[in-house]
Amino acid sequence: MGVREPGARALLIALALALAGLGAGCGHRGEHALIVTTNDVIAKTSPCGCHTPKGGFARRAAFLDSVRAVRKDVLALDAGGFFPVNEDERDAGAFTLAAMGRMGTAAAGVGPNELRFGYAYLEQHARAAGVPLLAANLERRDTHGPAFERWRIFRAGSVPVGVFSLMPEGSDLGPARDSLDATSAERAARAAIDSLRAGGAAVTVLLSQLGEPGGDSLVARVPGIDVIVQGGGMVPIRTDARRIGRTVSVEGGTEGWQVGVAQVWPAGPGARPQIDARTVVLGPEYPMQPAMAASVKAFEDSMNARLRVREASYAASPGGSSGPHYVGMSNCVRCHASEYAQWQTTAHAHAWKTLADQQKESTPSCVPCHVTALGEPGGFQTTDDAPRFGNVQCEACHGRGSDHKQWMDHGNTVSEATCRGCHTPTTSPTFSLALYRPHVLHTPPPGLQPLPESPATHLMRVGQQRHGR
Ligand code: HEC
Ligand code: HEC
Ligand code: HEC
Ligand code: HEC
Repeated sequence: MGVREPGARALLIALALALAGLGAGCGHRGEHALIVTTNDVIAKTSPCGCHTPKGGFARRAAFLDSVRAVRKDVLALDAGGFFPVNEDERDAGAFTLAAMGRMGTAAAGVGPNELRFGYAYLEQHARAAGVPLLAANLERRDTHGPAFERWRIFRAGSVPVGVFSLMPEGSDLGPARDSLDATSAERAARAAIDSLRAGGAAVTVLLSQLGEPGGDSLVARVPGIDVIVQGGGMVPIRTDARRIGRTVSVEGGTEGWQVGVAQVWPAGPGARPQIDARTVVLGPEYPMQPAMAASVKAFEDSMNARLRVREASYAASPGGSSGPHYVGMSNCVRCHASEYAQWQTTAHAHAWKTLADQQKESTPSCVPCHVTALGEPGGFQTTDDAPRFGNVQCEACHGRGSDHKQWMDHGNTVSEATCRGCHTPTTSPTFSLALYRPHVLHTPPPGLQPLPESPATHLMRVGQQRHGR
């Protein structure tokens, strides 16, 4: 009964039908609730730079707007995993929470990743954003009291929805490991269900950070969980919700590419509610909310500026000249003028400018493939090294210049794996060695035709799209 290829229009039609009491079979009259979920967003503020750009906060905000325009019983929940995974992108954690607040997120679960910047940081920014955090099995070591609220009953329209969240027992809590403890998920789940039922919840929702195997096994062991929003990394993308016994399992992949949509019709006391759930891919057919798009752009630009300043304060590695190391292209040019002249005609020669034009030259997830030898001895360390190691230089393909004597003695061949280190299915979907290699040979074959434009390249030129990972 789910819409198989949901688009904005299809969704609105489905919602309109449900509103008219005609949706999802017969007998669904009266009160209902619409629960919209995300999981493992890992602070992906912008749509992915994949072949088809998906997700991003601006699309999610517009999606929620459109749903709220036709329904008054919407409850937006996040199953945790919303903080960035990159240590340098800490500011994106606070920004994500603030954006969740603006999107009207009623509550969010807490995963181990949310504690990577400490307990205080999480608590403070969640409070500032007005996003209640739930964690049923996270305890303070000092008091054995809860680290956050354990569970809560929210109202979606008139339907009382009981919500709690779990993370794996014994999770590594990073800087919070001295102050907090992840205790038994099963024990916490039983307590949550008892308390939520006693409090009058007509439907119970588990925001899981247990990973799919852990989530499946928990709901099989603990009766009474109506919906599990799967999170915790190992979650596939399934358009149609799965059932595990009497529990409906919503699976939305990662990075906020899709949202889970569960419609719930509560039944009488003691009976299980009827639930119809699926996930909706937030592809390009979904519009972006202009206000959120603007604030994402402002945030990303300012984060780039901040990262640039921070990088400048790192001591640039002198590039230890004793061990194997990179030497920079200016060296090679002296003796290989013709290779250099040809290289200058390739896209590799302006890879750095490409990032700088988009103000992404300090964004850690972009830099690796648009420079040479990131973090390697002698190679690119900070943006200060751009003049020497920006772009995809000779050594990106041929290897460390300090090995040059070996090349002269034994030759040097550039492997396909070297290209594929940067030309991944995401960043370069049309890559094949046969097609691309002739374009980098220093003596180009006669009659070489220009490459057809890569879809990824095209998408990135037309807007603020990103790719990378
Ligand atoms: C002092 C001059 C000099 C410098 C500097 C130099 N090369 Fe060479 N390179 C040579 C000579 C000479 C050969 C051998 C040419 C031949 O006999 O084919 C060679 C050979 C090579 C080869 C081919 C090996 C093969 O497969 O036959 C590569 C690749 C190469 N150099 C890359 C570089 C790169 C990259 C740099 C900078 C990191 C560099 N060279 C710097 C002089 C130099
Ligand atoms: C260090 C990362 C890196 C490596 C290694 C690398 N590339 Fe690239 N390549 C890039 C980037 C980044 C671009 C896009 C540059 C731009 O346009 O700003 C690119 C662009 C290209 C293009 C131009 C595509 C177009 O849009 O027309 C070709 C062709 C290409 N690479 C071939 C290769 C081949 C063949 C290899 C291996 C022999 C290789 N590359 C190795 C990063 C890399
Ligand atoms: C895994 C390596 C990798 C990462 C990470 C990466 N890129 Fe690229 N990028 C490439 C390659 C390879 C190409 C060339 C693709 C092709 O033409 O087939 C490319 C091309 C581009 C282009 C198109 C250049 C043109 O021809 O106009 C832009 C823009 C771009 N990248 C921006 C980014 C941004 C922004 C990020 C970070 C969000 C990023 N890249 C991260 C490898 C990477
Ligand atoms: C995108 C990858 C790439 C980059 C960047 C690159 N080369 Fe090469 N180079 C190749 C390939 C491919 C060959 C052909 C031999 C092979 O397949 O290993 C080659 C061959 C060579 C050779 C052997 C003689 C010849 O001309 O075929 C030299 C010398 C050389 N490169 C030097 C350089 C220098 C100097 C630079 C920087 C100015 C450079 N290369 C940049 C991929 C690259």
